[in-house]
Amino acid sequence: MGEERLEVLLSTEEIAAGVKRLGEAIARDYDGQNPLFVGVLKGAVVFLADLIRAVPIPVRYDFIAVSSYGAATRSSGQVKILKDLDYSLEDEAVILVEDIVDTGLTLNYLLASFRARRPRSLRVCTLLDKPSRRLVELKPDYNAFVIPDHFVVGYGLDYAEKYRNLPYIAVLKKACDG
Ligand code: IMP
Ligand code: MG
Repeated sequence: MGEERLEVLLSTEEIAAGVKRLGEAIARDYDGQNPLFVGVLKGAVVFLADLIRAVPIPVRYDFIAVSSYGAATRSSGQVKILKDLDYSLEDEAVILVEDIVDTGLTLNYLLASFRARRPRSLRVCTLLDKPSRRLVELKPDYNAFVIPDHFVVGYGLDYAEKYRNLPYIAVLKKACDG
């Protein structure tokens, strides 16, 4: 049983500045389009809540819940939808919002599923990008921070459902990691 230790990676102020930059870029690109933000539960909730308030144009939002793949499903990239959207995506300007892109398998699956629903446009907005662990080719259209290969928590991101409410992002270290 290693003791857990947190090392701040991105402060509340740094996150706020990153979210503000994303919000301004999205507002410029989507002016007059009434985009539909789709948050991936549960990790993206905190980010989405701040992001929509940084976008000074009319928007709507919805949520989808997916199962995280186990070791067996990782290679196939198969993800199960546990709670689907309330909106049909037909002819919508959809912005898929994730907390972090790691292997890219979750977003890859969701993008394929969403494309089949015939949106007018479909883009990805993430707070964090960990490109070193990618298993499929995927580059977010909007991203605030590229981070190294560390396990991070806070601002919606969890470790066994813990730490989601931290107002900053920290690297989770186990005592045994040194
Ligand atoms: P994927 O590997 O890109 O499919 O990432 C899927 C999900 O894994 C993300 O949406 C997060 O919920 C979770 N995840 C990936 N990296 C981290 C991390 O460093 N901390 C917490 N959750 C993570
Ligand atoms: Mg997630």
